[in-house]
Amino acid sequence: MLKLAALKMASSFPGPVKNANTIRLALRSWPEVDEYLNICKGVIIPIGSIEQHGPTGAIGTDAMTAEAVALEVGRLTGVLVTPTQVFGMAEHHLAFSGTMSLQPATLLAVVHDLVISLARHGFERIFLINGHGGNIATTKAAFAQAYCSATNLGLPVAEKLRCKLSNWFMAESVFREARELYGDREGQHATPSEISVTLYLEPSLRSKQKPLSEPPPAGPIHGPEDFRRRHPDGRMGSDPYLAQAEHGALLLEKAALALSKDLQNFLNSV
Ligand code: NI
Repeated sequence: MLKLAALKMASSFPGPVKNANTIRLALRSWPEVDEYLNICKGVIIPIGSIEQHGPTGAIGTDAMTAEAVALEVGRLTGVLVTPTQVFGMAEHHLAFSGTMSLQPATLLAVVHDLVISLARHGFERIFLINGHGGNIATTKAAFAQAYCSATNLGLPVAEKLRCKLSNWFMAESVFREARELYGDREGQHATPSEISVTLYLEPSLRSKQKPLSEPPPAGPIHGPEDFRRRHPDGRMGSDPYLAQAEHGALLLEKAALALSKDLQNFLNSV
């Protein structure tokens, strides 16, 4: 758990909460959401993916990590967190069992519809906390579509609506820490940093850890079969055996602090 004093809150923030459940949209009633909107127009949507993470990593890694970072950012800032959009664009992982993917056009429609739903109620700042690189291009396209729709639908917030995608694993402090801990063994997929966060969050995953052979270097990504040919066990240049729960706690803390500042700037932006 982070020290609340570590963050200086802007006046537009509701502020840190003691009970983390109070920032979960799913646990609020609609009159409470109306009350919240009188104080803050910001909301966080965690977005992940359900896809293979190498021979030892959990299929739900990207959804678990995005949700954990989002709930911690919510706890630090008081900004509401919606339920997690657990399914993402993972077409290139479909040659591995367990992967469940939305096509880019489907994900675009889902993110668009979620943004427009929230905008209709008066939310003006939609902050997506993302755990999966494959979601980035599609999510940004969805934002462009949502801006058009908000105007076309004549929503009162259309002029003020802003959407932002923040990738926890790309925060500078997280990236730097991962490089220090793992060097070039961090790789690009099924990375020890993301696996560390899952080991911290879910102790039952720790027993899956085992030494792995030298991974093939990260390369270009095409279709699912091509991905499996190039990366037979699903890893891209990574050594998830280096992952540790203690690292996960540290990385989660760094991600939550960095993204809370990012969110603060976003809420204060014009
Ligand atoms: Ni991942």
